Amino acid sequence: MEPDVTIREYRPKDLEPVLGLVRELEAEMAEKFKTRIKSGLEDYRKRYLNPANKYKTWVAEVDKKVVGYLIGYPSLGTPEIDTMYDILPLPPGRLPAEFYMQITFVSRPYRKKGISTRLHEAVTDYAKKMGFREIYACIAKWNDPELRVIRSLKFHSKDLGYRYRLSLKLEDPESVAGEKTNK
Ligand SMILES: CC(C)(COP(=O)(O)OP(=O)(O)OC[C@H]1O[C@@H](n2cnc3c(N)ncnc32)[C@H](O)[C@@H]1OP(=O)(O)O)[C@@H](O)C(=O)NCCC(=O)NCCS
Repeated sequence: MEPDVTIREYRPKDLEPVLGLVRELEAEMAEKFKTRIKSGLEDYRKRYLNPANKYKTWVAEVDKKVVGYLIGYPSLGTPEIDTMYDILPLPPGRLPAEFYMQITFVSRPYRKKGISTRLHEAVTDYAKKMGFREIYACIAKWNDPELRVIRSLKFHSKDLGYRYRLSLKLEDPESVAGEKTNK
């Protein structure tokens, strides 16, 4: 039987469960690349999961257990600029045109059940509601599972050499996954 999955926005009480998933992700990457990985736990604690900052996180819950997360943020355009600012250098209420999906992780026993797809759909709905004009992600070419999820949502793929930039325009309702228009 498929699990009952809830997708919702991150709450401060999710901090430790999400950090547990980050440890799983780092162990998986260390195993995959046969190397030691410098832990990003402190960055998650101080930057990405800090509600005062620009980052926004969604979690997937099964039986009250957090089993996956997706972090994104309003993007100023280039990674070099984006990484400089944890707080957007814009007047309050102003948002840039693009929303960037930085990372998605689903705990191994819960994969291939559509959880990542549901997380991406929730974030896309949010970005649309907030008035962003485009949502995008940059995915390494080796990451077939993530590429398949994003492509299944009809994102447009651009080859950047070692990775793809996958984006979805939000101003055209016909391009939004699952939406139909009579026009
Ligand atoms: C990439 C990742 C997030 C995908 O998560 P996921 O929850 O397994 O993704 P989904 O279940 O939505 O989709 C994956 C596949 O499961 C399939 N699937 C979805 N629901 C299913 C179901 N009920 N039964 C069987 N398969 C199902 C999807 O069709 C898709 O199949 P495909 O690969 O053949 O196209 C996960 O593998 C992961 O965390 N990887 C490690 C971290 C990582 O690489 N993150 C991305 C970089 S930012």
